[in-house]
Amino acid sequence: MQALELLQRIVAAPVQAVARETPLEQATLLSRDSGRTIWLKREDLQPVFSFKLRGAYARMARMSRRERQRGVVAASAGNHAQGVAVAAARLGMRARVVMPKTTPAIKVDAVRRLGAEVILHGDGYDAAQARAHALCSELGAVFVHPFDDLDVIAGQGTVATELLRQMSNQMSNSPDAVFVPVGGGGLLAGVAAATKTLSPETRVIGVEPRGAASFKAALKAGEPVDIGPVNLFADGVAVRKVGRYCFDVAADLVDEMIEVSVDEICAAVHDIFLDTRSVIEPAGALAVAGIRRYLAAGGDGQHLVAINSGANIGLERMAHVIERAQVGLGREVLFAASIPEQPGSFLRFCRALGQPELTEFNYRFSSLSEAHVFVGLRMGGDPEQRNRLFQRLQAAGFEILDLTDNALARDHLRHMVGGHRPDSGREVLYRFRFPERPGALEEFLTHLKGRWSISLFHYRNHGAAYGRVLAGFLVPESEQGAFDSFLQLTNYPYQVVNDPACELFVGERRSDSAVAIAGRCEG
Ligand SMILES: Cc1ncc(COP(=O)(O)O)c(C=O)c1O
Repeated sequence: MQALELLQRIVAAPVQAVARETPLEQATLLSRDSGRTIWLKREDLQPVFSFKLRGAYARMARMSRRERQRGVVAASAGNHAQGVAVAAARLGMRARVVMPKTTPAIKVDAVRRLGAEVILHGDGYDAAQARAHALCSELGAVFVHPFDDLDVIAGQGTVATELLRQMSNQMSNSPDAVFVPVGGGGLLAGVAAATKTLSPETRVIGVEPRGAASFKAALKAGEPVDIGPVNLFADGVAVRKVGRYCFDVAADLVDEMIEVSVDEICAAVHDIFLDTRSVIEPAGALAVAGIRRYLAAGGDGQHLVAINSGANIGLERMAHVIERAQVGLGREVLFAASIPEQPGSFLRFCRALGQPELTEFNYRFSSLSEAHVFVGLRMGGDPEQRNRLFQRLQAAGFEILDLTDNALARDHLRHMVGGHRPDSGREVLYRFRFPERPGALEEFLTHLKGRWSISLFHYRNHGAAYGRVLAGFLVPESEQGAFDSFLQLTNYPYQVVNDPACELFVGERRSDSAVAIAGRCEG
């Protein structure tokens, strides 16, 4: 469909029946820091805390009387579910929403409160979607796609017609660029179609999390492609394959795609909080993270708009996001230091540290000759400050291992009581992602069948759809093949841990301590 034709559908989409015209606000602090004028389109202020009700309502309002009588079915782990529930209530339709069993209670409860029937099924979106399609066949109900539908795209496009009008009222001007969070691509397609027909000189820039950049992959391949398991951190946009319609509309209209890291997303949540005193969900903060990266790379334009697309985040998740934001903004440094076990050396270490603001300090006796200290410090965000500190400590004779960007250290070691295992055989360490639902651990142990001893286990709930686990097992060399088969059987994503940080604090003690920091594990 041509952008102009789609614009007609966007203009005709009756979203004002459920969606409010959200403010387009200047972000004072972000603007001051960047020297540009940064605008936030506050879709987080919609009645269901995201823009998704626009698309759902635009689709459902166009259904025939017979279709409406049959009711709708949707599959969603979050915002689309709430959009469908609101639209159904407004149109007097019955809505059934299939949600993965891992969906946080806050989202399940919200959908139920809005009057939809919730069916919990499977561990992820794919399983929920398959169940939803089966339900549609059984009941003759209509499936409402979260993004790959021209009416849904048209509904999402109303965000752009609105913001262009607001901008021209406030500034008699068009934005130089609009930054759009991208999951399946519905919002991007709608915004691109509206923007490029009404204000062709405005750049449309899509933003995706690293590890879930399915639109970028589609552009490269020339068609939507399944990129496999994606980074789930920004759960609202964790989509393996973008929509066919979304791609066909947006591929030629979008000017640029930007990828941002989890730390950058968390830093953007923090930035938005400082400017608005509102907490945004990770997917909702993608656009601001994209603006930061765009400007760091020398991007031009004075008036830059970020679509703050949603704010459905549970309290339990916020602590983790804030913790990561400190790292994302370069405000927390984590490192390990080796200190000789001699009288007075601990004091010497503390003096060399200066008097910083400590966020973490774990000391564990290690051997007769050496101790390892795990240190977290609050910093001003200047990378030079970190370098100067490390130089000072090294000059004082302490060996330093920078762990600031080390996911294992950040997610596990800093929260664990350290210690090396007793010398009782070959130990292997793995990180896993467990689905966050009752029975996940039991399932894992059932597969293990008590065949190998667990020498270490650390799990931490981040309020996400999955929990991170660090586990050690005693596995003789000759049984590694059988152990690998067990790992396959669990079906939980995993990676082998071969990390210097582990060696210092929990893993097997080895004689050679010359090590390199392992690659980061995003999310
Ligand atoms: C908060 C939020 N932002 C962005 C998106 C991405 O939208 P789309 O799937 O249309 O690309 C979603 C999708 O659900 C979302 O919930």
